Amino acid sequence: MPLVTSKEMLQAARAGKFAVGAFNANNMEQVQGIVDAAVEERAPVILQVSQGAIRYAGLDFATAMVKTAAALADVPVVLHLDHGTDFDQNVLCLRAGFTSLMFDGHAKPYEENIATTAAVARIAHICGIPVEAELGQVLQSGVSAEEVQNAMTNPDQAADFVARTGCDSLAVAIGSVHAMTSAQASLDMTRLKAIAAVVDIPLVLHGSSGVKEESEVEAIQYGIAKINVATMLNQAFMDALRQAVAADTKASDPRKFLTKSRDAVKETVRHKMRIFGSSGTVTASGFISPATQHRSADLGHIE
Ligand code: G3H
Ligand code: ZN
Repeated sequence: MPLVTSKEMLQAARAGKFAVGAFNANNMEQVQGIVDAAVEERAPVILQVSQGAIRYAGLDFATAMVKTAAALADVPVVLHLDHGTDFDQNVLCLRAGFTSLMFDGHAKPYEENIATTAAVARIAHICGIPVEAELGQVLQSGVSAEEVQNAMTNPDQAADFVARTGCDSLAVAIGSVHAMTSAQASLDMTRLKAIAAVVDIPLVLHGSSGVKEESEVEAIQYGIAKINVATMLNQAFMDALRQAVAADTKASDPRKFLTKSRDAVKETVRHKMRIFGSSGTVTASGFISPATQHRSADLGHIE
């Protein structure tokens, strides 16, 4: 089916207390594995492309891969710009056909973050495309607990920020950290509840590879409706590749190995969709109904 925007999908997720998985992709095998997982899980899915992925694959190539995967799928697929730190990059992605954008203004002073986010939102909304913004900063792994604490989202700014930017979803810094290779981060649920109490738009959790799955499930109860996953998928991809190469050092056809990586990505995404409660939320007609299944059974299967 054609690409869809993230707006209604994330609103349904917040209302239905589930989260839509937003999975980073850099190549064909990752795109295919992610979308195949969504089809098998009957789940909506966000394929997100970072600025680094655009530099690696090229904007047109990355866009074409995701558009093709979506056209072959019978579940809703979104093409999202992840961490667009540049106004022009957002406009270029809008022009390319992205159905969801992000302006990540964490590095700018508060008022400048508002001004640029509002400018991106104004242009995107003319085209019917929603925009994710970031308030506070989700840092990169290797930082201290004090740095994480100091970078967290200020709930007292959230209502003002959302009202003045017009953003459609909000990335919040509540303790997660990007690119952690094991689930050790704990989330500040008190802070999350305070943010969710003053803004009713879907909230976004970044850095989920470092977050315990129990915490993900709890955060979904308090307004998290989009959960970003990148490092965990890269780990699955590379672990499968290394195992396949070690098992057959003589083979020369990359498909023999990349098939294993694609399958590993698919299984990882399927598992996350079940934890997020998005599995089974796509009806036969392709629309999303509020999740009703209970996740506790899935948590019991966490390895
Ligand atoms: O925007 C992308 C995500 O925040 C990735 O976080 O690599 O820790 O899963 P992660
Ligand atoms: Zn992120």
